Amino acid sequence: MNNAIVDKFFKRGRDFLGTHYPVMCGAMTWVSEPKLVSGVSNAGGFGCLAGGNTPIDILRGQIEQTRRLTDKPFAVNLITIAPLYKEHLALVKEMDVPFIIFAGSFPREKEIRIAKQSGAKVLTFASTQSIAERMIGYGVDGLILEGMEAGGHVGHVTLTILLQQVLFNFDQVPIFVAGGLASGRMCAHLLLMGAAGVQFGTRFAVATESIAHKKFKERFIKANARDAVSTPQIDSRLPVVAVRALRNRGHADFSKLQMELLKRLESGSIGRVEAQLEVESYWVGALRRAVMDGDTDYGSLMAGQSVGLITKEQSIQEIVDEVVGDIGKEFNKIHASLHLEGMPVETF
Ligand SMILES: Cc1cc2nc3c(=O)[nH]c(=O)nc-3n(C[C@H](O)[C@H](O)[C@H](O)COP(=O)(O)O)c2cc1C
Repeated sequence: MNNAIVDKFFKRGRDFLGTHYPVMCGAMTWVSEPKLVSGVSNAGGFGCLAGGNTPIDILRGQIEQTRRLTDKPFAVNLITIAPLYKEHLALVKEMDVPFIIFAGSFPREKEIRIAKQSGAKVLTFASTQSIAERMIGYGVDGLILEGMEAGGHVGHVTLTILLQQVLFNFDQVPIFVAGGLASGRMCAHLLLMGAAGVQFGTRFAVATESIAHKKFKERFIKANARDAVSTPQIDSRLPVVAVRALRNRGHADFSKLQMELLKRLESGSIGRVEAQLEVESYWVGALRRAVMDGDTDYGSLMAGQSVGLITKEQSIQEIVDEVVGDIGKEFNKIHASLHLEGMPVETF
């Protein structure tokens, strides 16, 4: 591997995260617990604990446990729309967590200020050019640019477009790219485009150390990219939050439920608020059922389209080594092909 090239393209992300490699494992509610998070950080990447809706004492315990398992940096992910969000924010500040990643909706300027008061580096997602601008204006230290190919809650724009809208137009803060990534080869090209690093979710959910149920992992390994679909919304009168997950019986029943509710809305036998509540409560607890209990029929099998690129279970270390190795190989290939064509390669 040509270390000079790898070092050049890893430098910004590596310095920012304080890791060997600018390879992040995105927070995954229920999946990203201390063992997975510390495992990724110990393997040279960057782990991220999922705040989700975790009770405050449990989250405190998880941060302490992660610290016992690794002396490497990791982040805590806070969901701004979670009922315990304010308490989570106070906790990570009190515990001097070095990296805070906001997810859900976009944090207010005041919340970013609070997070930074402890000295933490703050990252947010950026799903449009204007949001990226606003977040940089609010003082974030880094951005995560996630395409709609990703697993979990998703926006509506593909990574191809976001790269051109955001990555190509902002250089003030490091930008980490996510959504649909599974290969080091792809990561090499994103680094060449200006990404400071990359973030994977689905690939680490299938890692040997991941606590996800055996049946959950088996479904992932068998799935094709097209099986990871965004939650169906039948009619804009009953809005549905877009979540990318593997199609299953739960999806089919969810569509049926919406059709029934729409009929009842039209006949006047149910009000809009009550119908919307039924839509929103349908998936409550469904991710937990899939990840922890292995309910692959009715649970929420949140997965990115990257699932179609995953063919086996591997340890965290194997995943990180393979990704980093393939980044190096791709850089070498590009370097060699430029050289062959007689182009000056010293600056590459
Ligand atoms: C099972 C699952 C749960 C997730 N939960 C969260 C979460 O709680 N917070 C968050 O910011 N992102 C969450 N994500 C998104 C991931 O952190 C990551 O950005 C995404 O998976 C990247 O796309 P990929 O799955 O194609 O690699 C979740 C993803 C999955 C697959």
